[in-house]
Amino acid sequence: MAGPKARDTWQYGDFQTPPDLARQVCAVLAARGIAPGAILEPTCGRGAFLAAARAGFPRARQVLGVEINPTHVQDARARLGAGACVEQGDFFTVDWPAVLARDEGPWLVLGNPPWVTNAELGLLKSTNLPAKSNFQRHKGLDALTGKANFDISEWMLLQQLDWLRARSGWIAMLVKAAVARKILRQAWKRGDPVGRAALYRIDAMQHFGASVEACLFVLPVGIGARSRDCDVFDTLDAAAPQATLGFHDQVLVSDVPAYLRHRALVGGNRHHVWRSGVKHDCARVMELTRAEAGHYANGLGEVVLLEPEMVFPLLKSSDVARGRARAERVMLVPQREIGGDTAALAQTAPLTWHYLQRHGARLDARSSVIYRGKPRFSVFGVGAYSFAPWKVAISGFYTSFNFMKVGPSGGKPVVLDDTVYFLPCRSEAEADLLLTLVRSPPYAALLRAMVFPGDKRPVTADLLKRVSLELVASHLGLAEAYAVFADRPAPG
Ligand SMILES: C[S@@+](CC[C@H](N)C(=O)[O-])C[C@H]1O[C@@H](n2cnc3c(N)ncnc32)[C@H](O)[C@@H]1O
Repeated sequence: MAGPKARDTWQYGDFQTPPDLARQVCAVLAARGIAPGAILEPTCGRGAFLAAARAGFPRARQVLGVEINPTHVQDARARLGAGACVEQGDFFTVDWPAVLARDEGPWLVLGNPPWVTNAELGLLKSTNLPAKSNFQRHKGLDALTGKANFDISEWMLLQQLDWLRARSGWIAMLVKAAVARKILRQAWKRGDPVGRAALYRIDAMQHFGASVEACLFVLPVGIGARSRDCDVFDTLDAAAPQATLGFHDQVLVSDVPAYLRHRALVGGNRHHVWRSGVKHDCARVMELTRAEAGHYANGLGEVVLLEPEMVFPLLKSSDVARGRARAERVMLVPQREIGGDTAALAQTAPLTWHYLQRHGARLDARSSVIYRGKPRFSVFGVGAYSFAPWKVAISGFYTSFNFMKVGPSGGKPVVLDDTVYFLPCRSEAEADLLLTLVRSPPYAALLRAMVFPGDKRPVTADLLKRVSLELVASHLGLAEAYAVFADRPAPG
């Protein structure tokens, strides 16, 4: 159990910026030509950034910091003396427009906000959250499956963007790279008056002991020419950007020039649908290995007998990523479609029914709301497509784009876990053709131009859906071969 100090460090994201890093950041900003009239750090901690900004921007009329922790406020005041004004306040209740009205700007809003997520704060029973935390209005499945989880810093940066939209200035923050991208997506989608952004990668492990992709994020707001591009620099002292990310066709792309080169392949998929594997959230009960005499061994050390028709060979994400076609495990799949009746198993598959009953408490304890209001023992992401005999599959975790063909094993369709995406196919010939398309250089080049390797799950069905298999087939001179499989509905 974390002690009160560790809990506070976590809930307030209290990782103070090393002074050298703060100085380096201010030097980068000055070299970019940023010349603020006033400087604000809204969660200023012990004042490392304020001190660096004071020295780095001597012409700024005001240097202002706000911080929730009174000890940090005292430390910052002692450090800065008359060089800055440090006030105690809670980001979520301060009247920021009134604060910004103290100077005509342009304002540089800089610093290092807490890197904690609302889910972590939930675990800590912390209230260090905006009053209305269902922001971004996540709906439906996203809310159900936890995509609605967000970083507090994301909320804070969106507020800062709002402040500056009404005036002008720059946001310059140390944040997770994924947060910077979310802010950019939002600003670009809304058509905010933002200039060309920059993202400088920093080594979060070295500076903060955190294993996360992080960056200095710089966003001009209401200043200079508008842009929907963001230059990505490998380090704070890199002379030239290593890539440019941007917003095209309503989506964020990681490599603008490469995306534009392959944009002709972007389009819908009328004939094939990317699906995800089966989600059950109870591996120890639902995933088993074959034991002797038709028995199966589960993850709890039990050897059990189940009806063979309830059990399917299973390939997991790691198998798919490595191209391992031999299914060492099996998955118990109690339904054939979402919401399918499971009570009937008492008659149709009594061994499985008793097994599930025995482990009912574990299955009932699955916290995800996707199971709520569904028949007991339900799984998710199941449908006719799950049982298609052939599949072309890819793991969501890797950007090596190792697509693989998955065929039946022991006369049964192979099922995949929920971190795998796949195209269901009726025949091996169809799988072979689709595999040729997804393994082709232009397909991979377009995916690479859209993917963000640092994301937790860089490959998703949404990403895959953007590349038109039909257009790729035409591009490769395979339109006729594709048409053979395009006139019938895909399984599921
Ligand atoms: C990652 S630290 C960075 C501190 C400082 N900005 C720096 O760069 O050294 C985050 C800071 O945010 C403060 N903080 C957390 N929640 C806050 C809130 N609701 N209002 C104001 N400050 C807060 C923490 O106490 C901590 O000092």
